[in-house]
Amino acid sequence: YQCRVNCLAEKNRKMLCILSFSLFADIFSCLFLTLCSTYVFMVQARGIQIRENVKNIGAQVLEQVVRGAYSINGTDYSYDFNESESDAPSTTYLPEGFTYLPSQVCPEKLPSMKGRLEVNMSEISLEEVERSLLEREPTMALGGFWKPKDCLPRWKVAILVPFRNRHEHLPILLRHLVPVLQKQRLQFAFYVIEQGGTEPFNRAMLFNVGYKEAIKDLDWDCLIFHDVDHLMENDRNYYGCTDMPRHFAVKLDKYSYMLPYNEFFGGVSGLMVKQFKRINGFPNAFWGWGGEDDDLWNRVQFANYSVSRPYGDLGRYMSIPHHHRGEAQFLGRYSLLRHSKERQKVDGLNNLNYSPLISRSRLFTNITVSLSRKLAPVADY
Ligand SMILES: *[C@@H]1O[C@H](CO)[C@@H](O)[C@H](O)[C@H]1NC(C)=O
Ligand SMILES: *[C@@H]1O[C@H](CO)[C@@H](O)[C@H](O)[C@H]1NC(C)=O
Ligand SMILES: *[C@@H]1O[C@H](CO)[C@@H](O)[C@H](O)[C@H]1NC(C)=O
Ligand SMILES: *[C@@H]1O[C@H](CO)[C@@H](O)[C@H](O)[C@H]1NC(C)=O
Ligand SMILES: *[C@@H]1O[C@H](CO)[C@@H](O)[C@H](O)[C@H]1NC(C)=O
Repeated sequence: YQCRVNCLAEKNRKMLCILSFSLFADIFSCLFLTLCSTYVFMVQARGIQIRENVKNIGAQVLEQVVRGAYSINGTDYSYDFNESESDAPSTTYLPEGFTYLPSQVCPEKLPSMKGRLEVNMSEISLEEVERSLLEREPTMALGGFWKPKDCLPRWKVAILVPFRNRHEHLPILLRHLVPVLQKQRLQFAFYVIEQGGTEPFNRAMLFNVGYKEAIKDLDWDCLIFHDVDHLMENDRNYYGCTDMPRHFAVKLDKYSYMLPYNEFFGGVSGLMVKQFKRINGFPNAFWGWGGEDDDLWNRVQFANYSVSRPYGDLGRYMSIPHHHRGEAQFLGRYSLLRHSKERQKVDGLNNLNYSPLISRSRLFTNITVSLSRKLAPVADY
């Protein structure tokens, strides 16, 4: 009863567990399939079901339903931020006014990383974001390349953002994330990998393409795999490669700030370049929505890496609500996931061909690529 255990481990979150089992009939699949060996994947199905319902009903309505139906006085379930949890490690942050030298490696826990962030989801044009970010930091080069001048960056981080039809989300992400990375004193650049053509969205293959293109620019140390609609709520969620492989987006508002299942590796995750190479990257075979993050999780396990996560509420994210975009779910994912191990050797960075169209805009590199199955052929396995 993986999902039940997860829920119960969460303080004040029991009500949501009950909700999971009773509000939507489909969610019974979780209970039912714990009897089967594939239960882990079906726990994910529960996540999907919540996500589908959230899309249909809207997160706010869902929250009202939760509160209305399951909390006696309307206070049992709380979205309140647990300050003490996020502030627990604060003693190890450097004091205000701490000085460092341009010849020194940037500290990891800077005083400028204050903790909780305001999340601004109001729409804004890309031009306006470019203008205001460049005004603050004129040293950002074309393509959004930036590195600190007052210390030596500890990590060189490529932020890979898979993309299709979310033009209003990208400026919101950049407005939010660029200043955080600058505060964290990381060297970074953004790569937006846009899928052209009419095939279903292939998030994983886009990451592989993004990686292959990014390393042509610079010897990056760390790769962050970042959904365009995920906005971190705490700037102490450090995007350097400490303790990688790392799952950053631990508590998502759309999952009521619970980890949907222990093996969840979606939203925002990161690997060191050398680790990513060793696991042969992402799979290319996941066409449509879902499953590729679970496959990456499996690959990481098979390589004997263990995944770390930010502490407490540092891993909170809000996701930008969006209208239906009709991205198809990938229904074949469960059968592929059963053969993760065999497929890992033959499907990934090593069987991928593509012809990208690359352009640099002010804040990111645009890698546009049309994907199809024949670009990543897989022999029988
Ligand atoms: C709900 O409110 C009533 C009266 O204010 C109180 O007696 C009761 O303990 C509360 N229940 C919970 C679960 O907080
Ligand atoms: C907040 O987190 C701390 C540390 O995990 C815990 O001791 C405390 O009970 C939490 N507070 C609430 C209100 O959940
Ligand atoms: C959100 O961003 C918009 C545009 O950048 C700005 O006008 C607005 O004041 C911001 N809202 C908050 C609450 O910061
Ligand atoms: C992972 O660990 C297991 C058990 O210790 C070992 O048999 C296996 O060879 C290791 N795999 C890799 C890729 O190092
Ligand atoms: C990337 O470039 C393509 C081709 O020039 C263009 O159609 C697309 O709008 C660009 N995407 C973004 C996010 O700027």
